[in-house]
Amino acid sequence: MTDFEPKIVVFCCNWCSPAGTDLAGSSELKSTPYSRIIKITCTGRIEPNFILRAFAKGADGVIIAGCHPGDCHYISGNLKARRIIALTKNLLPQLGIEPERLRLELISTSEAPKFQLAADEFIDEVTKLGPLRQINKVMAK
Ligand code: FES
Repeated sequence: MTDFEPKIVVFCCNWCSPAGTDLAGSSELKSTPYSRIIKITCTGRIEPNFILRAFAKGADGVIIAGCHPGDCHYISGNLKARRIIALTKNLLPQLGIEPERLRLELISTSEAPKFQLAADEFIDEVTKLGPLRQINKVMAK
C-alpha cells in the first residue's frame, strides 16, 4: 500500500466540463485533493506544450475534458483535440513519460457522475504508475 497521491491537472473546456466538475463537487462526489482545474475556451485550444509544461511543473497526470462530438461551440475543436492528444501521447515516451498519464474525456454538463468515474479511474491508474520521474529540466523553463 502506498500513500502516494498523484497531482492531476485537468484542462477543462469552458462550455461543458467545468459545469460537470462543479456538479461533481456540489454532489460531494469523491475526488483527489491534488487536482487542479484550468479552464480553456475549447479543447481545440490545447497545445502539446500546455501538456508538457504541466508534466514539467509536477503533474503526475493530465486530463483534457471537453464537449461531446457535435457539441463543440467551435464546431470541431474537440476533434482537433483528439488529434493533438494522440500526437502528444506518441511524443511522451520520448520524454520518459507513460502515455497513460494523459487522457481525453468528452463530457457534457449533466454528466458529473460520468466525469467523476473517469477521474477516479484515471487517478487509480496514475497512482499505480507512481510519481512521475523528473523530466527534462529544459521543459520547466
Ligand atoms: Fe467544448 Fe470545443 S467548446 S470542446
